This record gives sequence, C-alpha cells and structure tokens, in this order.
Amino acid sequence: MDVVVVSDRDSLGRVAASLVIEGLGADPALVLGVATGSSPMTTYRALIRARGEGTDFSHLRCVALDEYVGIPESDPRSYHAFVRREIAEPLGVRPDNVVVPDGNAADPTMACVAFEGAIRSLGGVGIQLLGIGRNGHVGFNEPGSAFGSRTRLSRLSPTTRADNARFFPRPEDVPTQCLTQGLGTILEAAKIVLVASGSHKAAAVAAAVEGPVTESCPASILQLHPDATLIADRDAAVRLAGSSGAPPTAKTTSSVEP
Ligand code: F6R
Repeated sequence: MDVVVVSDRDSLGRVAASLVIEGLGADPALVLGVATGSSPMTTYRALIRARGEGTDFSHLRCVALDEYVGIPESDPRSYHAFVRREIAEPLGVRPDNVVVPDGNAADPTMACVAFEGAIRSLGGVGIQLLGIGRNGHVGFNEPGSAFGSRTRLSRLSPTTRADNARFFPRPEDVPTQCLTQGLGTILEAAKIVLVASGSHKAAAVAAAVEGPVTESCPASILQLHPDATLIADRDAAVRLAGSSGAPPTAKTTSSVEP
C-alpha cells in the first residue's frame, strides 16, 4: 500500500481530491465509490472547490458503500441523504447517476443483489474512497467479515454504533443493521484511496497498513490490493513505523507532504 502522510485534514482532502480529479481527467464518466462519515468531508469540500474553479463533474457516477437499514431516504442521517447533500448536489452529479443500497427494501437480499448488478452495469468502480473505523472496519465490514464477502445485510458492532451515536439524538436510535458492500466487492475497485484523520484512528491505521492481513482487521486486506493508497494526517499516522523516521516497511512506500 502506498502511504502519504500529510499535516492535517485539509491537506488530506486536497491530496485525495487531486487523485479523484486525475481519475476524472482520464475518464470524465469516472465511477467514484463514496464513503460517508467525517473522514472524506475535506475531500468532498476540495472537490466542490475544484468545481468552482472549472472542473466538470457532470458525467461523474457515484456509488455509495453502505446504508443503514430502516432509516427513510428522506431522513438527513440516511446515506442516501448524505450522498445527495454532501456530494451529488454540490458537484452537479445527475441524480440518476447515483447508486446507494436500498436500506428500506422489503427484501434486503434482493436489494443487495440489485446493488451489485448496478455496480456491474456501471462497469465497476474506478476509484473507491474509504474511511476506516476505530475497529478497522471499511464500509460496514466489521471485524470477522470474510475477505470474499459481497454486498449483504449486516449488523453494526457496538463500537461502530457508539461512534455513530453523535449523529443521532440518543445512542439507542443508532440503527443496528445496515447493507454494506462486502470486502470482495470493495476490492474489485480499480483504485482505492483510504483517508484517515485523527489520533483515534492511529491504532486502526497501523493495524491495517503494517499488521498481519487478518479478518480481525478488515482494512488489512487492502494490503493485497494492487493500487491502494492511504492518505493520513500526522495524528492518524503516528503509530506507523514510517512516520517515526524509521524506513517504510517492505510492503509500503511512504511520503510526507507539507
Ligand atoms: C461510511 C463507512 C464507514 C466510515 C467509518 C469511519 O460510509 O462506510 O466505514 O468510513 O466508519 O467513519 P468516520 O469517517 O465518520 O470516522
């Protein structure tokens, strides 16, 4: 995995956005896999600034990673609403070019099959943006998720529910279930950009990048992806061997941006 360490969240957003814009330059109809949550927000803001400076996102296609079960699409906390509000509308992406799993489907299994079919009919994901949970999850693939897993109905771990309680009035309001792309689905993206910010992510980042490849740390499977880049701010990178002045490990290349 390539590792880029930057000083802060804004630099992280600029570097990640530059990779997306590079991808868009090669393919204006790029399929961008989009994460929700706090980690990619500075990336989305940098992309929105780039639109203001003339970058055209009108052909971009967006595919979400996951969705809560049982939260109406119109609820601002749903990932449908997040993708519309934070990404599609400000970038000028056409609504019919946005794909999000249907967390309110009567038949969740069929909804997952339909979602995988939608990704296939787009020709697959070109660049997948990912955040990482404190427990090493990517998407909502909690520890123990199979590396070959596909989009499915899954349960949120207590750690993830506690972390996401900040978006809900009461901790018990956080959904218990979700639909999530599987690790096998995520790994099919041509390029993966994992963004991590803050000291609370440092242990997960170190385990993902330098630890053993194990289902106990779902993000560790990214070590085996041929084109995966971690962009971390200094706080999130603090437990990486490469960030303490030691040479990068054999499986990482490391660089530090100002
Ligand atoms: C979001 C997602 C999750 C988050 C992760 C980190 O669609 O799939 O894996 O990326 O929980 O969340 P934040 O960025 O809020 O710390």
